[in-house]
Amino acid sequence: MKDIRVGLLGLGTIGLGAARILLEQQELMSRRLGCRLVLVAAADRSLDRDFGLDLSSVRLSSDAQDVVTADDVDIVIELIGGYEPARTFVATAIEHGKHVVTANKALIAKHGDELFAQAESNGVVLAFEAAVGGGIPCLKALREGLAANQIESIYGILNGTCNYILTRMENEGAAFADVLRDAQALGYAEADPTFDVEGVDTAHKLSILAAMAFGSKIHFDEVFTEGISRITPDDIHSAHELGYRIKLLGVAKPHGEQVEMRVHPTLIPLSSQLAQVSDSYNAVQASGDFVEHTMYFGRGAGERPTASAVIADVMDIARVLPGGVAYLPPAMGFIAAERRDLATLPIIDAECEYYLRLMVQDDSGVLATITSILADHHISLEAVMQKERHATHSVPIILLTHTTTEGNFQAAIARIIALDCVQEDVLILRKEQTH
Ligand code: HSE
Repeated sequence: MKDIRVGLLGLGTIGLGAARILLEQQELMSRRLGCRLVLVAAADRSLDRDFGLDLSSVRLSSDAQDVVTADDVDIVIELIGGYEPARTFVATAIEHGKHVVTANKALIAKHGDELFAQAESNGVVLAFEAAVGGGIPCLKALREGLAANQIESIYGILNGTCNYILTRMENEGAAFADVLRDAQALGYAEADPTFDVEGVDTAHKLSILAAMAFGSKIHFDEVFTEGISRITPDDIHSAHELGYRIKLLGVAKPHGEQVEMRVHPTLIPLSSQLAQVSDSYNAVQASGDFVEHTMYFGRGAGERPTASAVIADVMDIARVLPGGVAYLPPAMGFIAAERRDLATLPIIDAECEYYLRLMVQDDSGVLATITSILADHHISLEAVMQKERHATHSVPIILLTHTTTEGNFQAAIARIIALDCVQEDVLILRKEQTH
C-alpha cells in the first residue's frame, strides 16, 4: 500500500484534532482509500508544551517553512488561521508543488481567488471544506450533489459562537458577555471574538458559499454585515412573542447579473427548520430549481468536527494521487474560465421585512405619528407591540413591517429618529421567511 505524506501547519485546537485523526484512524482511512495517510511533519511556533497526543513519529519544527518546502510532503494542511502568515505559507506550499487543505475561511474569503489560480497553474489542489460549516460537508453538497441546479437562495447559520450565545440568551436570559466567555472556553470562538459577534466570520463563510452557488468570484468585502452585540434578552423574548426566533443569518440570493449577500441578526419563523438549530450547531439551507429546499446540519466549530472535514479533503486528494487531480471537481464548483465577476447588489436595493424597536415617550399621538411616516413611505405593518413602561416616561414599541427596500426603510427611519418623542436607542433587525 502506498504512503501519502502529510505535513501540518499549526498545532492549535483544530491542528491537534487533525493530527489525532491521522494517528488514530489510519487503518479505517486506509481501508477507505487503498493507500495510507502518514503525518510526517508538523510545525507550530510553540513546541515546548504537552500536546496530549503522541507525536513521537512526527518531525516537529517551529518553522512552517520547513514543512511547506519539505521534499517528503505531498499534502500540506494549513491550520494557522488568519490572513498572514497563512497566505504566504499556502502560496509557498503551492509553489513547491504541494496540495493544500485549509480550514481558513478568512484566507479563502479574502485571497481564495488568487490562490485557486496559483494552484491551478501549478497543477495542485487547494481544498477548504472545513472553512464553511465546520464538520458539515455543505460545500461538497453544493459543489457536487446540487451541481445540476440553479441555486435560488442560500440561508446559513454559520457561526457556532453566535448561535451558542443566542441560544443561551434565549434559554437562560443570560447576559451576552458571560455567554461569550463560555463559548471561548469551549474553543468555538475566533482568536479575535469580534469576528464572531460582529458577523465577520459569517460574512467570510457566506461569501464563499455565494461564489460557489452562483459561479461568481468571491466578494467578501462587499457583504453587508451586522453582528449580534446589540441584541438583548428582551428582543429575543419580543421576537418569540411575535412567532420568531433571532439567528445570526447569512443570506445570499442571485438577481440576474448581481448577487445579494447580507449577514445580520434575523427574525425567522419559529416553525422553520433553521429556527430549530441551536447551541453551536450550524446549518446551511440551499434551494435549487430542481431539487427545491435542502438543508445541511451539524457541528459548525470545535476540534473534532472541524478536523473531520479537514481530513475528508485530504482523503479526496489522496484518492487521486499521483497525477489524477484534474479529475477532482473544480474547487469553486465551476470551471475557472466560467466563473464570472458578478456585482454585489447594493444594500439599499435589497428587499427586506423589518423589526424595529423604538423607545418613545408615552404620550398620545406618538404611535400615530410614527405609523404615518411609515405610511408616507408605503411601508405596511405586520404587527405592532407596546411593552411595559420603563421607570421614566418612556415605553418600548416594536413594529414588524412587510417587505420594502432597505433604501426606503432607511429614509423612513431617518425621519422617525428625528422626532422629539423618539429616543436614540433604536434597533433595526431584519426578517426572513426561511423554510
Ligand atoms: N469561530 C467560528 C465559529 C469557528 O464560532 O463558528 C468555526 O469557523
